[in-house]
Parts: sequence; C-alpha cells; structure tokens
Amino acid sequence: MDIKYLGHSAFEITTKGKKILVDPFLVACPDYKCENIYDIFVTHAHGDHLGSAIEISKTTGAPITAVYELANYCAKNGAKTIDMGLGSWRDYSWGRVVLVPAFHSSSTPDGIYGGCPCGFVFEIEDKTIYHAGDTCLNSEMKMIGEIYQPDITMLPIGGKYTMDIEHAVKAAEWIGATAIIPMHYNTFDAISVDISEFERQIREVGKMPMTLQINGSL
Ligand code: NI
Ligand code: MN
Repeated sequence: MDIKYLGHSAFEITTKGKKILVDPFLVACPDYKCENIYDIFVTHAHGDHLGSAIEISKTTGAPITAVYELANYCAKNGAKTIDMGLGSWRDYSWGRVVLVPAFHSSSTPDGIYGGCPCGFVFEIEDKTIYHAGDTCLNSEMKMIGEIYQPDITMLPIGGKYTMDIEHAVKAAEWIGATAIIPMHYNTFDAISVDISEFERQIREVGKMPMTLQINGSL
C-alpha cells in the first residue's frame, strides 16, 4: 500500500494497483493525473474538500462515497455516488470503510446543506487508516481508538477551522495510532503552523510524526 499526500487534506491511497482519492482539492498539485481511480471519498461539502471530486467522477467513472446529503448533491451535479450514513461498514473491492463523526459544519460552495461532516476509517490490506476530515478535538476519538484501533491517522493541525497542534496531539493520544500524518495546514495564511513544533510535540507523547511533502508518499 502507498499513501501519497496531495496537499491540504487530499490523499491518494494505492492498493494492488487500485487508487482511491480522499478530499481531492488539488490546488497544490494541478498536474495530478487521475489514472486507475476506483473510488473517491469526500469528508464534507466545503470547497477545500469537495475540490475536483465531481469532475474526477465524471471523467473517470469512479463513484464518490459521501454522507447522504452530500452524495445527493454530487449526483445532481452529474457524479456517480455511493451514499452512506455514519456507523456501518461498507465493503469495496479493495477493502472496507466506515463513516465516523467529525465536529465541524458542512455546506456546498453554492450554500446547500451538506449533511453531517465525517471522517473515514479505512481497512486496507492489514492496516487501519483514519482520515479525520475537518474536526475539533472531541471525545468520539476515544471511541474511534477503542473500536477501530487505527495504525495510521491523518489529523488536521492548522487551527482556526479545525484542531490546532495542541489539540491534535491530544487527539493522537486518544486515538492511539502510532503514525500521525498532519494535514490541513499551511495551505493559506489562516492555517499556517510551524510543522517542527507539531513534530516535537507529537514525539513527546510517544507517537511518530509522518509529515509528508506534497506528492510525498508513505
Ligand atoms: Ni471544512
Ligand atoms: Mn477545510
């Protein structure tokens, strides 16, 4: 398995030749080539997460998996979709996924209610990966740690709209994953952080900071 960071909260996960995209807001890598995309996941309807999902779905035929209201919005705009609610596993050809709560808001770029914001827990090969979406620190993360026991967790750290570094470090402790990939920082001024400070604090609680460069892989 390969996890590639595409900037902001966007990731490409490749497993056995199949690629899946999460929150494909691709301003940081405009030359990204959409090849072998099997599935697209969108945590919530904000433009910096929905990104190019609808266009990519139309071009590649890959369905967008999202919470019911957001999936409906994408379908109305011509995308293939898989609608879900929080809390049950769905099987895919490459693994399985459950939607978990995020504490945030969700409306589409044109102002339509986007359903509840989510995170995703992926089981791929023998690894569990948790993408938290946009969220504040919340006690559901203790449940996620207990029930899903993620190996790898992507956490927002930029503050202002989501958790900041201090809260992300607490989240990492609650979730229990060893490897923490920071996201949702330094894309624009309002969410700029000193990434070395994140790395220092996360090591202090015995976790491994997995900072990825744009187009960098794990
Ligand atoms: Ni958001
Ligand atoms: Mn965001």
